[in-house]
Amino acid sequence: MDEPLIDVKDLKIRFRGAKRDFDAVRGISFTIGREKVGIVGESGSGKSLTGRSLLKLTPKGAHISATHMRFKGTDLLAASERDMRKIRGNHISMILQDPKYSLNPLMRIGNQIVEAYRLHHKAPPAEAKAKALAMLEAVQIRDPERVFKLFPHEVSGGMGQRVMIAMMLIPEPDLIIADEPTSALDVTVRRQVLTILDELVTRRGTGLMFISHDLNLVASFCDRVLVMYAGRIMEDIPANQLHNARHPYTQSLLESLPRLDAAVDELKVPVRDPEWLDGPVYRNGVLA
Ligand SMILES: Nc1ncnc2c1ncn2[C@@H]1O[C@H](COP(=O)(O)OP(=O)(O)OP(=O)(O)O)[C@@H](O)[C@H]1O
Ligand SMILES: [Mg+2]
Repeated sequence: MDEPLIDVKDLKIRFRGAKRDFDAVRGISFTIGREKVGIVGESGSGKSLTGRSLLKLTPKGAHISATHMRFKGTDLLAASERDMRKIRGNHISMILQDPKYSLNPLMRIGNQIVEAYRLHHKAPPAEAKAKALAMLEAVQIRDPERVFKLFPHEVSGGMGQRVMIAMMLIPEPDLIIADEPTSALDVTVRRQVLTILDELVTRRGTGLMFISHDLNLVASFCDRVLVMYAGRIMEDIPANQLHNARHPYTQSLLESLPRLDAAVDELKVPVRDPEWLDGPVYRNGVLA
């Protein structure tokens, strides 16, 4: 196999508290290649921190350590802030849940995409504009010339998210980290946005880290799934093998999913066992 884009070994993220420390991520190892890797787990399991740690954008007070944390062979832990600025956007970009926080409200959408492009390509303005319009078209915005001139508040949530995808993809990154990119959208718009994202990353061979609460969504959309619980990866499994998951936590997550053929009151709540915190981890269905 080619060298993975991301290779993380024994990543830990700790918050130092006045009374005691809190271990939010407790020694996880994973790789991401040019594939779609879903990260699922309940709230607080450490998904977002894991994603942000790859860009070294964890909140103040978070202490990151790892045996190694590499991006295409570069040691991210040893990288300077200057190196990280080059990596962010250029090589790894991030799509967040709400475009409101990522788009500049005072700048026309088109100019933001142009700027994202010119940050990484020395191109004359006309060429950059043509690229931006083509990118808006690629995310299936029907009237790119009109949308180019709009301000972020003038577009719907679904369109805003497609604009974000356009902006994040225009520098042609190797990896995209998408943290709940569609959870603010309604179901039909969500499907549309995911289809566009899927098509673009697949065609370009971009790696995707897709963070979500939604096991069903991740199972159908991703190639591989990492299941997190309390700061650990419990299971690392090909998406199409998910029904054969070995870890009791994954099994209980699957059992707690709403099913069309089951009455709502039969829904199970995922079980949790303190022993999992130090217990076995399954990779591809076998104990690792
Ligand atoms: N700035 C912070 N200070 C202290 N603890 C934090 C901070 N940020 C996150 N945490 C803790 O780290 C843990 C993991 O947070 P993280 O945001 O990665 O969870 P998550 O899996 O993304 O959850 P969600 O699904 O709700 O987004 C949580 O228990 C959270 O309380
Ligand atoms: Mg999160």
